[in-house]
Amino acid sequence: MGQSPTAGLVDLHTHIVPGVDDGAQTPDESLAMARAALADGVRQVVATPHIPFAGMTREEFGQRLESLRQVLAGQGANLEVHLGAEVSLEPDILRWLAAGLAWPIGATRYVLVELPFFVLPPYTEDVIFRLQVEGYKPILAHPERNALLAAKPERLQVLVERGVLVQITTTSILGGFGVQAKSAAQAFLERGWVHVLASDAHSANHRPPLLTEAARAAERIVGADAWRLVSTNPAAILGGSEDVEPARPARRARQ
Ligand SMILES: [Fe+2]
Repeated sequence: MGQSPTAGLVDLHTHIVPGVDDGAQTPDESLAMARAALADGVRQVVATPHIPFAGMTREEFGQRLESLRQVLAGQGANLEVHLGAEVSLEPDILRWLAAGLAWPIGATRYVLVELPFFVLPPYTEDVIFRLQVEGYKPILAHPERNALLAAKPERLQVLVERGVLVQITTTSILGGFGVQAKSAAQAFLERGWVHVLASDAHSANHRPPLLTEAARAAERIVGADAWRLVSTNPAAILGGSEDVEPARPARRARQ
């Protein structure tokens, strides 16, 4: 076993702010999520509500986030929660971003975008490339859960080769979303296409904000590089850095 940095982990994708989407519903639930994350070695999370589902502006969400920070601080839960969003990839996304109805992660140009689960809309590539032309840096949320990308990984390869970052979800690697999502996540890791592993946590129990077990599973595929997916890469993204390399299987690196 290589180094396993089980402290200071960074979770780039969570639904921890209460009452804004299908994630945490109450401050108590958010607190339970924060405590579970801290116990797993996570020190920072990005709060990524579904947009436009949440139906609020960046400013309104920022206020909800600030309330949560006060709840956590009041309870001694020392988890840093950053502002982000998980934005549905639709033709209107640039308009939403311009109007403050969708927003990037923190103060960066990285935008976490979500595809539908069963189809790849015909405008997908076009909208992603238009985002890039406008200076945004798209991060694709859990493409392993998209049935079409799982079946036709070459469609994902085109995006990765054009600089799109890939976030896979812990539950997928651990098999909780079924065989197809699990084998797609493994295949994307084997091909060296994955930049971030995140929990996409919706609650403390059902879809928990844990990273360590899934990082260990990823470690069996890409070796110690797996830890970059839950630490330095999400931290670099939060800092707006472009220094974000995918994890690559050690065998391939030696060839
Ligand atoms: Fe999500």
